[in-house]
Amino acid sequence: MRVLIIGPDQDDIALASRIAIERGASLRQVGSSAAALAELRAGRGADLLLIDAAADIAGLIRSLAAERIFAPVIAYGVDTDARTAVAAIKAGAREFLPLPPDPELIAAILAAVGDDPGELIFEDPSMRQLLGMARQIAPSEASVLITGESGTGKEVLARYVHRHSRRAARAFVSVNCAAIPENLLESELFGHEKGAFTGATARRIGKFEEAHGGTLLLDEISEMDPRLQAKLLRAVQEREIDRVGGTRPVKVDLRLIATSNRDLEAEVAAGRFREDLLFRLNVVNLHLPPLRERPDDLVPLCRHFIARYAGANGLPAARLSDAAFARLRAHLWKGNVRELENCLHRAVLLATGDEIGPEAITVQGGPAARSRSAGLSGGALALVGRTVGDVERDLILETLQHTLGNRTHAATILGISIRTLRNKLRQYGDEGIAVPPPCAGVAETAAGLV
Ligand SMILES: Nc1ncnc2c1ncn2[C@@H]1O[C@H](COP(=O)(O)OP(=O)(O)OP(=O)(O)O)[C@@H](O)[C@H]1O
Ligand SMILES: [Mg+2]
Repeated sequence: MRVLIIGPDQDDIALASRIAIERGASLRQVGSSAAALAELRAGRGADLLLIDAAADIAGLIRSLAAERIFAPVIAYGVDTDARTAVAAIKAGAREFLPLPPDPELIAAILAAVGDDPGELIFEDPSMRQLLGMARQIAPSEASVLITGESGTGKEVLARYVHRHSRRAARAFVSVNCAAIPENLLESELFGHEKGAFTGATARRIGKFEEAHGGTLLLDEISEMDPRLQAKLLRAVQEREIDRVGGTRPVKVDLRLIATSNRDLEAEVAAGRFREDLLFRLNVVNLHLPPLRERPDDLVPLCRHFIARYAGANGLPAARLSDAAFARLRAHLWKGNVRELENCLHRAVLLATGDEIGPEAITVQGGPAARSRSAGLSGGALALVGRTVGDVERDLILETLQHTLGNRTHAATILGISIRTLRNKLRQYGDEGIAVPPPCAGVAETAAGLV
């Protein structure tokens, strides 16, 4: 996670930086928005911008939008100054980080923006085999397509391949094709020249060039529109890109990894994905099995997440009781490792004493729902009499609750676009229905820019 701080040096910010670095973030600081824009244009990208609430936030957000640069903005300022906080949010900041900094809040913000997921935990024989193959192909230059249901760990695996590649010491740059609005994605990937469009006041280096020498992850590639797929095909084939508005192609040297939770062959058959692009990306396919098909991973993953969230919350790592584990084992885990992770995060917070009991395990549906959905009748009866809109709303809100407010992941699980999800939530908000705050959904910030 790369954080760019925009503002003068001050003790509270130095402290916040130390906390963020301890949590694995890398930080840079510049004195002004102009200097920050220069950094971003030059291909020294950031996953998150932290700006002094007293600065011209609206101006920065306007510039980012005009130059088609995607980066979530979070404002910081003194805790007691509520007016500044409100003004910062009104100006378009996604969150307000009060100073002096609270380590938990910083950790939550970093996690929300998509922290480096870190270690890849596995014990199941199917995963041993898959990771053996991943290590074997990692040193090659072959493009890799990672497939698997939502939450199975595609991004973690992409980083694993990079770490075991010859490019490990170079950049790992990731672009989430689903989270970035269509009209920003081309510039995000390929950069643009000064004057390429109204607002392009200077040259901007895109992710392809930023990843030069390293690995570029094109996350959720199936969400890319066909026009851009054509441009991407050229970049993949020729290893050169055209900046938007550029006249000369630029050579790039990188390893490509793409992920998808959709069946890309089916997408090809439906005319939504280019077959030639699929061939180019799918030189090696690493398919992650769903969590329910790798039972031996459950224990080590539980141990890992309990230790992680106990540590993050300053709590002792509680033992998982047999009854609690039985509940976990009986569950279907449609949201895979992410769902397990969220469930254990809640369990750590809900547990009392030094043992996690079954009451701390809150899973969607549970065994009863499992047999219902398999057998239809019970579930169908429970639904009859309700409108489609009604059921849809409950499904959306419950999924959102499950992803701890993360819109991108909720949309993936629901099988709808982030845009559709956002429109639905806006509609519910207008109808006065409480919608979980986008605490973990910084990914949709870009939409706020357009
Ligand atoms: N084997 C694993 N070991 C440790 N953590 C894991 C593992 N697999 C997944 N996770 C964790 O589960 C969460 C989801 O993983 P990841 O984002 O890689 O999934 P994904 O397949 O890319 O999901 P999506 O399709 O929704 O984008 C992350 O928080 C990640 O850290
Ligand atoms: Mg992913």
